[in-house]
Amino acid sequence: FDDVVQQVSTGTLEHNRIDELLLEAHDRYSEVDDGLLAHYIPVLGQANPETFAIAMSHVGGSLHGVGDCKHQFSIQSISKMFVYALVLQEHGHEAVHERIGVNNTGMPFNSVMAVELNNGHPMNPMVNAGAIATTEMIPGKSSAKKWENVREGLSAFAGRPLILDDEVYESESEANERNKALGRLLKSYGRLEGDPLNAVDVYTKQCSLNITANDLAVMGATLADGGINPVTGQRVVSADVCRDTLATVATNGLYERSGDWLFEIGIPAKSGVSGGIVAVAPGKGAIGAFSPLLDMAGNSVRAQLAIGHLSRAMGLNLF
Ligand code: DON
Repeated sequence: FDDVVQQVSTGTLEHNRIDELLLEAHDRYSEVDDGLLAHYIPVLGQANPETFAIAMSHVGGSLHGVGDCKHQFSIQSISKMFVYALVLQEHGHEAVHERIGVNNTGMPFNSVMAVELNNGHPMNPMVNAGAIATTEMIPGKSSAKKWENVREGLSAFAGRPLILDDEVYESESEANERNKALGRLLKSYGRLEGDPLNAVDVYTKQCSLNITANDLAVMGATLADGGINPVTGQRVVSADVCRDTLATVATNGLYERSGDWLFEIGIPAKSGVSGGIVAVAPGKGAIGAFSPLLDMAGNSVRAQLAIGHLSRAMGLNLF
């Protein structure tokens, strides 16, 4: 694959070669049926486990995809990295570092214990506690305004208007007692400014935005491209914000499995419980993959395998 590595890094990899590699990854893993659906959010427990999509966006603007690339699914925790980028853009490196943190908890994404063990600090923006605290920092005097800013900001990353999935939002709102508890716990430690339930509600809405694997690839490629959406040409965030966001995603994006992932695959990646993963190769592009069956940490099994295969085949490992 030496020629492929060279061509990806110089941006000259032939488009049909990318298509071939995506197809190869799809074929190789489409029979894997390990993992579980995210039953704790009732509507996600009804997903079709067969659905499988892989898309890649190059910083040059080309978009490639195989499988169910236009299938819509809720973005879930992948929203955390893009909301974090918007908050970094607004408040800057120091303020966000102090308030939200960057270090891995070593615990599951919805851990209450992690907050308790760290004097109420949310630890990092990729776990639920840190994401709720990050969402509260989105500009806007009311929750409605914050939500509008989140939706518009994530839509700018995708290059198209993203729409709330009402069914997912309602299902999750009825089953998010733990997130409400995390919000209240943060508030009890003085780590939230406003009403914790308002912050949790905006967070729940951001998780319920519908996207496709194609969207994920473009959103990730915007971070790979120093903040410029390669399809629309719009600057969404600064290059500094991309650097900070990707560093935090590298250490926390796959929760307690982030170290294993960085060791084996070597590029920042963020997962969501509906089954999406986006992996970003800075300066090159991004891969968005989707399939609903998850490992014990809440990361799509097939998406991890497909991205791992492509990262090796294209020489994307940063190290
Ligand atoms: O708050 C939750 O539990 C979900 N809205 C998001 C969790 C999630 O996506 C974890 N990722 N793998």
